[in-house]
Amino acid sequence: MTKIEAGNWKSKMVSPGDVDAWMTGIAELAKSKEAVSQTIVFPPFVYIERVKNHIHTLSLPLGLGAQDISRFSSSDKPVTGEVTAEMLKAIGVEWVIIGHSERRTKMAETDEILSQKAGRAKAAGLKIMYCVPNAETPVPLGVDVIAYEPPGAIGSGKAESPEEANAVIGRIKAATGGTVVLYGGSVTADNVSSYTSQAQIDGNLIGGASLTPKDFFTLVINSSPRA
Ligand code: PGA
Repeated sequence: MTKIEAGNWKSKMVSPGDVDAWMTGIAELAKSKEAVSQTIVFPPFVYIERVKNHIHTLSLPLGLGAQDISRFSSSDKPVTGEVTAEMLKAIGVEWVIIGHSERRTKMAETDEILSQKAGRAKAAGLKIMYCVPNAETPVPLGVDVIAYEPPGAIGSGKAESPEEANAVIGRIKAATGGTVVLYGGSVTADNVSSYTSQAQIDGNLIGGASLTPKDFFTLVINSSPRA
């Protein structure tokens, strides 16, 4: 199966110029080598359209997603500040991350809230990348991809061992009827192949190493089995 490598910029890409530099940098690198893995990028809301325009203009084989979604619908009573599934769908977003560990802890998002969000995404026709911190966390029905991200491994440089991640992901797959499952947490261009070579791991969700074109492109190239 084609591996999935997803870059989550979180709150780290600050200016429009940063976004432009990333996109043109990736386009330049992509001229020299073709990536085999399926690649998706998750910009902050305010830059989604900008990234979409770059993908179109530069003809990049990149999927596009949002990092979060409202648990409310635009057809509900108005809610100030929310970005709904309907809005994301309307501007051509394909994917959404739901349940990232940082939102579970810093924004107090519960399994119940996250399941509401998943319902909104599904109803609008968005593909869901649902993050779980362990194999025991409930996963709503209809999720397309699960990202297993042990909290201690996120942004710490202390990645879980590929063998342990493979074992946990095997359990998640067994419990969810064989959903596609990624590993996330301190994955880099240097260690990515030790994950993608594991039998159960279908790809990776990448934070820090997705922030520069060179790191991310090298990671994506290294993620596919050596030709
Ligand atoms: P990291 O983040 O790659 O910086 O550890 C992973 C994630 O939170 O998705």
